[in-house]
Amino acid sequence: MIPLEEHKVEEFLKEFKLSHPKLKEIMKLLDKEMSKGLKGDAGTAADVKMYPTFVGPLPQQSDKEEFLVLELNLPRVELALVRLQDHNASVIESENYTPPTGVQLDTLERLSGFIAMCIFKFTKKRKLAGKEWPLALIFPFPCQHEGPDRACLVKLTKEVTCKDVQGQDIHELIRGAINKSKKNSSKIQIVAIVNDNVSTLASVADSNPDCLIGLIVDGGLNACYLENRTRISTKGPQDGKAMIINTELGALGENGCLNFCRTDNDKELDEYSSRPGSQILEKMVSGMYLGEIVRLVLEGLTRKNLMFRSVSRACNLFHRGCFNTECVMGIESDNEEPHQNTKKILDHLAVKDYTDEDVKNVRRVCSIICERAACLTAASLATLINHVNLSPVTVVVDGYLYQRHPRFQVMMLNKTRELVNPELEFHLVRPQLERSIGAARIAAAALRSGNSSTDTPGATQNRGSSHTEPGQPSPIGL
Ligand code: GLC
Repeated sequence: MIPLEEHKVEEFLKEFKLSHPKLKEIMKLLDKEMSKGLKGDAGTAADVKMYPTFVGPLPQQSDKEEFLVLELNLPRVELALVRLQDHNASVIESENYTPPTGVQLDTLERLSGFIAMCIFKFTKKRKLAGKEWPLALIFPFPCQHEGPDRACLVKLTKEVTCKDVQGQDIHELIRGAINKSKKNSSKIQIVAIVNDNVSTLASVADSNPDCLIGLIVDGGLNACYLENRTRISTKGPQDGKAMIINTELGALGENGCLNFCRTDNDKELDEYSSRPGSQILEKMVSGMYLGEIVRLVLEGLTRKNLMFRSVSRACNLFHRGCFNTECVMGIESDNEEPHQNTKKILDHLAVKDYTDEDVKNVRRVCSIICERAACLTAASLATLINHVNLSPVTVVVDGYLYQRHPRFQVMMLNKTRELVNPELEFHLVRPQLERSIGAARIAAAALRSGNSSTDTPGATQNRGSSHTEPGQPSPIGL
């Protein structure tokens, strides 16, 4: 017989378990929003916007080319120097920059100033001045593209806040930052703006022609895939047979369609987030939020007097934001009795006088919340695999939650298998190359096709059409 207390805890956690019919219902909702998004003009009404990226099948590389790649993983800024040569793409150098403690990138001015400083430091240290550098920008936020190097920020996500940046032309923002660095004599031209997910997919393109879908589960949740042009009625280039769509599926639920499976804890998390009502699915899954959901559930169980009966309410566990996904992953990795790591994490949060039963409950909550996240991710991926409807298909999956959580991969894979149409074969792979290489490949393709608007007149000429003959096999193709 299950002891009464344990039974009550399980009762409390019941609403976090998603049954097969519920997951199927979520898939149906996602599919519906994806179709609306692809219809374009109704795009504003769709939860899942399905942004055209202006990136089509990528031609193979040939001559030696070098690119600067800037990734705005805010507040972290990453710069890399990437060399493409035949199939031997490599990151020659890279460096990460974070703003000094206390410095917030909370205005356009500060953000642009910081990016300028990073570019300046990176190029100066490596003596890159005096030469013309094409730059690919990895911008991991929803953008409406006007071309491969032209995009406007629709909104910031993942709790990043910065005044006046919404709606900004990202190309102009970065160009402003480059110009700001007056001492910087490198001539840098922005040739491509790409989502993190899209650059990951492009990094695999050269080696795996079946890889048509990219999934990312880190601070955010997102997926992209190569879509047949005939199915896209959104504004975008009309040439070519296929184009990568950045789904931004983490936004599912903004119209309330996921309310049937959201709990009061999900609603509370949303209410206290920097953008209530936004990115509803992402808030149930991604690393930016998982820790806080666990914390809210633990708080709820404590309030109901089902655990932590002797623990002071003044400890950090009862403060918003004090329990992060690193803690959840630490606890999930701690399988051996007496669960030393779990105890260390509780000690670190100044939780005192907890019992062994409390430790067990903390572990149970982490496990249930992670399982739910893996199931929701699986439902999203299965929807996409069914939509692409090609067999076999390969999916490249990236992101720290997927890579580092001890059980996430297995849980997600098993659930995806249950949900994908049985006649479709799919494989999940991890990226073998950095996403900056994918971004550089997209930049190279944009320069060759002449689609990039470029800042410097004539800049495309010396990289012109000498590389890829039309009709050469495409690494990504339908
Ligand atoms: C958020 C962003 C999306 C990004 C994802 C992963 O969902 O909106 O653009 O791809 O996080 O970083």
